[in-house]
Formats: sequence, structure tokens, C-alpha cells
Amino acid sequence: MEQPISDALVFFGATGDLAYKQIFPSLQRLAKRGKLRGPVIGVAKSGWGLAQLKERARKSVEDHGGLDPEGFDDLMGRLRYVDGDYADEATFQQVKKELGNATHPLHYLAIPPVLFGEVMQQLEKANCANCARVIVEKPFGRDLPSAQALNKLVNKFFPEQNVFRIDHYLGKNAVQNILYFRFANSFLEPIWNRHHIESVEITMSEAFAVQGRGAFYDGVGAIRDVVQNHIMQLLSNIAMEPPPGRDTELIRDERVKVLRSVQPIEPNDFVRGQFRGYLDEPGVKPGSQVETYVAMRLYLNSWRWKGVPFFIRTGKSLASTETQVVARLKHPPSVFSDEPPPPNYIRFHVSPDVKVAVGALEKNPGAGFHGHQVELISATQPDKNEMLPYEELIEDAMHGDQRRFARQDYVEQSWRILDPILNDAGPVHQYEPGSWGPAEADALTAHVGGWFTGAKSF
Ligand code: BG6
Repeated sequence: MEQPISDALVFFGATGDLAYKQIFPSLQRLAKRGKLRGPVIGVAKSGWGLAQLKERARKSVEDHGGLDPEGFDDLMGRLRYVDGDYADEATFQQVKKELGNATHPLHYLAIPPVLFGEVMQQLEKANCANCARVIVEKPFGRDLPSAQALNKLVNKFFPEQNVFRIDHYLGKNAVQNILYFRFANSFLEPIWNRHHIESVEITMSEAFAVQGRGAFYDGVGAIRDVVQNHIMQLLSNIAMEPPPGRDTELIRDERVKVLRSVQPIEPNDFVRGQFRGYLDEPGVKPGSQVETYVAMRLYLNSWRWKGVPFFIRTGKSLASTETQVVARLKHPPSVFSDEPPPPNYIRFHVSPDVKVAVGALEKNPGAGFHGHQVELISATQPDKNEMLPYEELIEDAMHGDQRRFARQDYVEQSWRILDPILNDAGPVHQYEPGSWGPAEADALTAHVGGWFTGAKSF
């Protein structure tokens, strides 16, 4: 059924970090492509006026990709600002007034989850929730019980088809390409299972620390910040079955099935770490035991993946900034030497550059059978017109397209997997900034020859 397009956008948290880094640049690009309809209303409690918000928007786009006069002017023509407390009905009466004749607004809650309930209730009271859609930011809850309570609350005001739980990883082309590459080619499927794949490794490493977000980060830690959402999305894409059709729910069903198949994590299946110096970051509580690093080993109880370890590691202040998924194949038999040769692998490099590589062995020139690993690499050049993840996802939400948003049961399953680690966290091992994390994490991958370190000579 054709869905109505949202005819106004209201974003709460308009003076915050997310609006500055992601929302304004995305809105400028949507405006440039003629995709915005009706007013764009920023709401916050900062004691600002519209002129200040416009100035903030200008700085935001200048810092993130540059000001595009056409897109920026269009956005400025639509921008409104409501300054007020979320507890105050008058704030929402003002929002209602600014909405004018809009009948299907999209409300973007770029605010801490503790405020969701209040804002949604006020929206309903002010008659702004009727036929409206809502985007809610991550982290969606803090654990399974709080996510369930939050889902209940959200669904009290917005029916599920109007709820968009955003995760910007689902808007990344490289993440979508994992699915596309797997299911648009035929050569991968015969080997994409426990018979041929020895292990799968997902690494999301960041060389930077908490970048002034100490207070936020200290309230969440690495597991809630990126594993529950971004890394679980990578895991679903790498492990899911082909959906039996393109419909939104068929695809989302397959993602949920992957998470449902993840077996409970045992205490020796994960290692938490904290980089030396974290406690000196502004906003971090004295003696904080929050993890800035986590590594884990998961097993999926499915016909395809039974027995194959899925390794995950992520952290701040690590040796490099990159996100990649590597599926290592089983070792071939030794023909040319007594030692088993290193395994072939498929590597999906998600960021900063986007590529797919197949690791293979090639003979060295000269006598004897000695070789080295080479990578057969896709060479797609980055497209400067490529849409930003938030741009794509906001546009999807404006059209009511939920394909790339997390469904309630998906969110709950991801917490089911991670709750045991969160509840019984175990020690936090210190690691040096610029390293690959605590040495204790090496034990997780020891039986497959360690963490993936790139091509080798043989
Ligand atoms: C955010 C996290 O959701 O994702 C950050 O809060 C993290 O801590 C960021 O740095 C990573 O996103 P990207 O797109 O830069 O890989």
C-alpha cells in the first residue's frame, strides 16, 4: 500500500551533538535533492532563537562536507525553532503551531532515552502524534527489561508501523553490500557454511578516544554503544539466510532469526578492557569500570553455522580506525610443504574505505614452491554523491519504509545475547592506547591462529 510521505520534520535535541554532526548535513542534502516537505522544526531547551540555530546549522554543514548554497537556502527557508522544556505543555503547543497544516509529521527523538516517554506523551497531548512517525535514537534501552519497557511505552503512542529505531550502520552502503555481495553472486553460497568457513571475525576498531563524550560514554560503554546495534547488524548481514522475498518483514525476519540462534555467552567467551588514561577523560566517573574495549566469541545454533566461532572485537584508542568482517576458510591440505598453508578468506572492509577482498595464495617467482598471500580486491571508487547514512535513513522514514530500521524483536534479541555480559561483567583489563587491546583477548582466537592480521608470506 502506498504510504503518505511525511510533510514536516520535527527534531528534538536540535542544539545537540548528533544534530550538529549528522542531522543538519543530511537535511541539507535532502533539501538539495528536493526531498523535504513542509517545515523543519528544531526543538531544544537552550535559550536560543532561530537565528542562533541557523548559525549552528551553517557551522555544522561547513564542518561536515561543506555548505551547498541551494540545499542550505532551501533548508533555511523551512527551518523553525522552538525553545522550551520538554516537561512544559507550552513547548508542544508551539510545535503544533509551527506544524501548520502538516498531517503526517516525522518526529526525530535525538535525545537521551530517559526523555522519550515525556516527549511522546506531550506530543500526544498536543495532538501532534496522530498519523505521525517517530525516529528513536540508539541505544534503545540499557538491557532487555528496559528495552521491553521502552518498546511498550513507544507503542503506547505510536503503532509499530510508525516507529523507526535508527542505526546508521544500516544506512551504510558497505553494510548493505555485504548482503548484496552474498546474495547477488553465486560463487559464495556453496562455501558460506560450517563445512568451509573456519571462523568469522568482526572488528570495529577506533584509534580515537571518547572525543569529549566522556559523560555519555561512561553511562554506556562499548557493548551498549556499538555492539548491541552496529556490530549486531554486521553479524546479521554476514550470517543471515537469503530472505524469501524483498518485503520489509521478510528481510527483518531473517535478521531476527540470526540473533535468535546465538547461544548464551559463557564467562570465558568475552574479555573487557579499558584504555589507560580513560579515567582522566572529562565526564568519566572516578574509578569507572566501564569498558572501552570488548572482545567476544559467539556461536550460532543453526544448520549453517553450528560450531563456527564468530569473533567480535571493538574498542576506543586502538591501533587503527577500521571496520571489517573477515570470514576465514578452512586450511587446504599441505601439498607444497609440511606446514598447512594459511587459509583463504573473504574480507568485507566497511570503513574507512569500502572494499571486498578475497585472500588467496600465489607462487613466488623462482625455483621451489613458496608463495605469498595476495588479495583480489574490488576496486570501486568512492562516489562523492553517495548519500550519507542518516540522509538515506531519514528519507526512508519519511516514506514509511522500515526495511533498514530495527524491529522490536530484533532489539530484544540483541539484549538477550548481551545481558549476561552486562550483568556479570567480570574484570576490566587495562590496555595501552594505540595497541590492539588487552592481551587477555588473544586467548579467544588462539585456536584459529589468532586475530586476523592481514596477508602473509608462506
Ligand atoms: C556511534 C557511536 O554510534 O558510532 C560512536 O556512538 C562510534 O562511539 C560511531 O564512534 C562509529 O560510527 P562510524 O560510522 O564512524 O563507524
